[in-house]
Amino acid sequence: MKTYLKILATGISLPEKVLCNADLERMVETSDDWILTRTGIRERRITEKEVATSDLGADAGRMALASAGKNPEDVDLIMVATATGDQMFPSTACIVQAKLGAVNATAFDISAACSGFLYCLTVAYSLLSSGVYRNALIIGAETLSKITDYSDRSTCVLFGDGAGAMFVELGNDGKGMFASHLGSDGSYASLLNLPAGGSRMPASQETVANGQHYIKMNGNELFKVAVRSMEEAARRTVDKAELDTDEIDLLIPHQANIRIINSLRKRLDIEKERVYVNIERFGNTSAASVPIAYHEARTAKVFDKNSNILLVAFGGGITWGGVLIRG
Ligand code: UT7
Repeated sequence: MKTYLKILATGISLPEKVLCNADLERMVETSDDWILTRTGIRERRITEKEVATSDLGADAGRMALASAGKNPEDVDLIMVATATGDQMFPSTACIVQAKLGAVNATAFDISAACSGFLYCLTVAYSLLSSGVYRNALIIGAETLSKITDYSDRSTCVLFGDGAGAMFVELGNDGKGMFASHLGSDGSYASLLNLPAGGSRMPASQETVANGQHYIKMNGNELFKVAVRSMEEAARRTVDKAELDTDEIDLLIPHQANIRIINSLRKRLDIEKERVYVNIERFGNTSAASVPIAYHEARTAKVFDKNSNILLVAFGGGITWGGVLIRG
């Protein structure tokens, strides 16, 4: 009998502080009109100085556990997808585990930038299907504001902070995740990266003076690769599920740019009404974007228990992925 990865509950955490386009107009040479028409973003959430990725991740995880009616001790596995972990090590998942008091869980991070949450779902599906664990708390959490150069107008208008979580178990009642496709192409690594602070270029006064501890992005090139890789991820996932794109009730894409989302949906021949978009309010929250959007759509009852929901993402690496969920 086919098993499904049941999404028992979801949670999110978003900082209260809002950075709107008018605020950015005062920081760099840009305009509300440029940002809105070129990206679809009106505002994004930004953490206070003392808040780290694990704080948002733990809050989202706590909300998902409470909503599932589970105690922290019930959790077998914690995975955190992030590109902005609290530290190089230990993993942010271990820090989240301690914050939650999930004393029986194994905890580790997954590094796949904006596709990270879909990588986590796929790994959880395999580990639960093979019987290694009974359940998992999966979290996508980011504080991109901490690695954003607010004097670089080509990147600072895009990113926001936030976290989304799912508590999952296996099930066989036909509801939950039932297909996925992941891909990577490291030859595009330089299109989106953070140059300093790792073993290639350890942090030094020079790297800080040169701003190499901030995100560097070739936006134009990434745009083209994003549309291509998300289309491939969507088609391969739908094929694996033996469905057709017209059987997709709701597309939840990674929220990087409204123009990328529109190009993708046109290529897939999916009308606007079948696409969930919240980029206007949160900007690009990397690994958190898909679980935040899924949580919102589920809470607002945008889909029902028989809907086919296609999650699609791409990110630095480059990486891409698609996941199909029923209900
Ligand atoms: O999660 C994955 C991460 N990233 C992405 O997915 C990003 C993918 N790429 C993009 O979303 C788009 O490429 C951007 C939004 C980053 C840029 O949009 P674009 O339409 O590709 O603009 P562009 O880079 O071709 O720049 C067009 C013009 C340039 O001026 P000139 O050279 O034509 O005079 C830029 O300097 O727009 C200028 N520009 C800006 N102007 C006002 C770039 N950023 C800004 C800005 N405000 N914030």
